[in-house]
This record gives sequence, structure tokens and C-alpha cells, in this order.
Amino acid sequence: MKSNLNDAIEKVLIPRSEIEKRIAELGKEITEEYKDKGELVVVGILRGAAMFMSNLALSIDKNVGIDFMSVSSYGQSSESSGTVRILKDLEEDVSGKNILIVEDIVDSGRTLNYLIKILQDRDAKSVKIATLLDKEDRRTSYVKVDFVGFKVPNEFIVGYGLDYAQKFRNVEDICVLKKSFYEKEI
Ligand code: PRP
Repeated sequence: MKSNLNDAIEKVLIPRSEIEKRIAELGKEITEEYKDKGELVVVGILRGAAMFMSNLALSIDKNVGIDFMSVSSYGQSSESSGTVRILKDLEEDVSGKNILIVEDIVDSGRTLNYLIKILQDRDAKSVKIATLLDKEDRRTSYVKVDFVGFKVPNEFIVGYGLDYAQKFRNVEDICVLKKSFYEKEI
């Protein structure tokens, strides 16, 4: 844990060593899944998935395309607004390709529900999901999540790409944020 960030952290939920071990396992599962299935493009959803995406792509033993999308569903709020806007679209055409969407966390499921639909409409050969974290208790929209790093409780989680008001993304462990910290900030 980076010592300058300790003040805001309630506890470490998943240490970096465990995260990286699990990502290596997911890389093997994904390599196996797409072994004989043709072209694969991994699509990272900015910004939260950046750390997971890099590490996961390096753990896949297959030549994969790398692309990114940026969508906005939350704005400054901590609750999904229900409408999803594309802020940055893919560079590549996805038609006929296997697409693996890479997310840091699935919460209500609204963002992924929307993304799966648009990629299917663009005639992707298949669309699957890999997420580092799954906050299942919060789900309001059904999403089939194919690869899950860890299931997490309904707490305010930061680190390894996840933020609170754009802070804490570079905390190396997945941590629970102190309630007093974000109440003070608001
Ligand atoms: C987070 C996360 C997912 C989405 C999940 O992104 O990265 O994209 O929310 O929530 P949902 O399942 O309720 O739709 P956020 O909008 O916070 O942006 P960020 O990745 O830049 O942090």
C-alpha cells in the first residue's frame, strides 16, 4: 500500500499479489476459450478498466487486437443515471470478430447491457464480458458475465483502476474507502 494514501483507506479487500495471480488464471481461461475461434479483440472500457485490461491482455496467449471505448453513465454521481453516452468509440470495425469487453466492475449492469447491444448490432461474431470485480447485489439489468475476477460486497471500493471522484485509481490494492473520507469530501 502506498503510504501517502493510507489515510483514506478503511481496509485492503484484495491485495495486488492476489489480483495479479487471479488475472493470470483468467488469462489462461480466456486463451482456452478462444483457442480455435478466430480473431479476438479485447475492448477496454475507459477509464476504470485500464490497469486490469493491460495486465489481462499480457496474460492471454494468443494474438489479440486491442481497442478502447469510453462511455459515460455516472457523470459525477455515484449512481448510474441509466443513460449511457459514447464519449470515445472503437477505432476498429468489429464485424465478424470475437469481442471481449473488459470492465473493472459490474454494478447495476446498465453500462454492459448497452455496450453488448451496440456491439451485437455492429455484427460482432461474439460478445463476451470479462470483469475484474462483480458487485452482484447491485444488479438491476441482467448481464451474463463470462469471466469474473472477484465477487465483491456492496461497499465503496477503490484502487487498481477504480476511483472515487477521479482519485485513488493508482492505489495498487483493491480497498474499501473510509466513509469519513468521502463524507468529508462531499
Ligand atoms: C463504472 C465501471 C463501469 C460502470 C459499471 O464506470 O467502470 O463502466 O461504472 O456500472 P453499471 O454496472 O452500474 O453500469 P464509471 O462510469 O464510474 O467510469 P470510470 O470507468 O471512468 O471510473
